[in-house]
Amino acid sequence: MRAGFPCKLLFVCFFSFLFLLVVIVHQDAPRTLQLGLLAAPRAEPVSAEQLQGSPIFQWRGTEEEKAGDSMPVPVPSHPPASTRHPLQVIYPYSYHFLLNEPDKCRERAPFLVLLVVTEPKDIQVRNAIRQTWGNESAVPGVSMVRLFLTGVHPHYGSPLQRLLEEESALHRDIIQQDFLDTYNNLTLKTLMGMEWVSRHCPNASYVMKADSDVFLNVGFLVQELLQPQLPPKKDFMTGYIYRNTGPLRSKAYKWYVPREVYPNDTYPPYCGGPGYVLSGDLAKKVYGVAQTLRVINMEDSFMGICLYELGVSVTDSPWGLFNVGWLEYEKCRFSKLVVVHHFGPTDLLRVWPDFQGGNKTCPS
Ligand SMILES: *[C@@H]1O[C@H](CO)[C@@H](O)[C@H](O)[C@H]1NC(C)=O
Ligand SMILES: *[C@@H]1O[C@H](CO)[C@@H](O)[C@H](O)[C@H]1NC(C)=O
Ligand SMILES: *[C@@H]1O[C@H](CO)[C@@H](O)[C@H](O)[C@H]1NC(C)=O
Ligand SMILES: *[C@@H]1O[C@H](CO)[C@@H](O)[C@H](O)[C@H]1NC(C)=O
Ligand SMILES: *[C@@H]1O[C@H](CO)[C@@H](O)[C@H](O)[C@H]1NC(C)=O
Repeated sequence: MRAGFPCKLLFVCFFSFLFLLVVIVHQDAPRTLQLGLLAAPRAEPVSAEQLQGSPIFQWRGTEEEKAGDSMPVPVPSHPPASTRHPLQVIYPYSYHFLLNEPDKCRERAPFLVLLVVTEPKDIQVRNAIRQTWGNESAVPGVSMVRLFLTGVHPHYGSPLQRLLEEESALHRDIIQQDFLDTYNNLTLKTLMGMEWVSRHCPNASYVMKADSDVFLNVGFLVQELLQPQLPPKKDFMTGYIYRNTGPLRSKAYKWYVPREVYPNDTYPPYCGGPGYVLSGDLAKKVYGVAQTLRVINMEDSFMGICLYELGVSVTDSPWGLFNVGWLEYEKCRFSKLVVVHHFGPTDLLRVWPDFQGGNKTCPS
């Protein structure tokens, strides 16, 4: 999160203020106020790669904090399952759409549906993406639909909901289901995206799932890799491919996957989470097969498991197009790749004018 820290501090202050405001407005008991102050939000966990080597035991903290949470959150309680591991993703389950955009594809079959994973509080991040790589009309002649995927904030569900509803009414690009938006529930967000494509946009040619902290070159993706002039590929999925990896069994890791959740020692090949692309037909098949599988808490590995069950292989793309690590911005280098990880909103807005600008031509 280079250059992201002051922004996070701002957010922390903003939401502390918001929380106090809500508490004061509702004239809550002093106990709530005290709880509110104690439960002031911490900076959110940094992304996966950055945490490598700095172990954080995520889920236990989440479980304990929930017990002391007094904010009303619009999340239904699930039937208690004493045998369920806390990291076991609750699925299949009929999560409800709190925000939906069912009509986006009514009049058209988009070439690309861009599903961007965000959290409810990421207003600034979503705005930066709307102005940069998420611009639906950035690639001339190519029909694109942008949607942000989100769940319900585990502590500030209610106050954030009003902000989110306003933002949604303004931009009509947010979909949300009523599961808790936590790191270990990420797979639910991806599956919500697959569900949306299956139900509301079955004729999309391609779907891309992207994290919100990436630089994305949609023009290169569309023109060079997907090629709108050709018939859409079937059973196609590509990205940064991990092969011969397996679950991390140490509780010290953010990516801890217990045996109760996934017993096998290896994962089938899969595409790294920061950004991957699949054909529209495959999005529907993944959603279908996910209803029959034990869903694990690593969303990208789980996509690999779905493909394995479907008997579909991931497709290699030219080396260097999908970068799960950070790269220094350089216009000509970035004009020939698809994804670079670890680009916060400040960085995106900083480099975008140069990236779009026609001043410098790059050798082809
Ligand atoms: C999106 O791109 C179009 C075409 O380049 C441009 O006219 C428009 O201003 C952009 N929108 C935003 C929100 O940046
Ligand atoms: C995932 O969301 C469900 C539904 O809101 C919730 O019951 C569960 O505790 C969440 N799991 C984690 C690990 O946060
Ligand atoms: C998808 O395409 C098929 C065949 O072209 C068409 O019959 C159907 O109405 C389309 N569905 C949607 C939701 O656009
Ligand atoms: C997990 O292991 C079992 C038993 O060896 C095997 O049948 C199954 O295909 C494996 N699943 C995956 C996703 O690799
Ligand atoms: C392009 O070049 C002009 C003239 O040198 C300069 O004023 C402008 O800021 C440049 N634009 C970008 C996006 O670099």
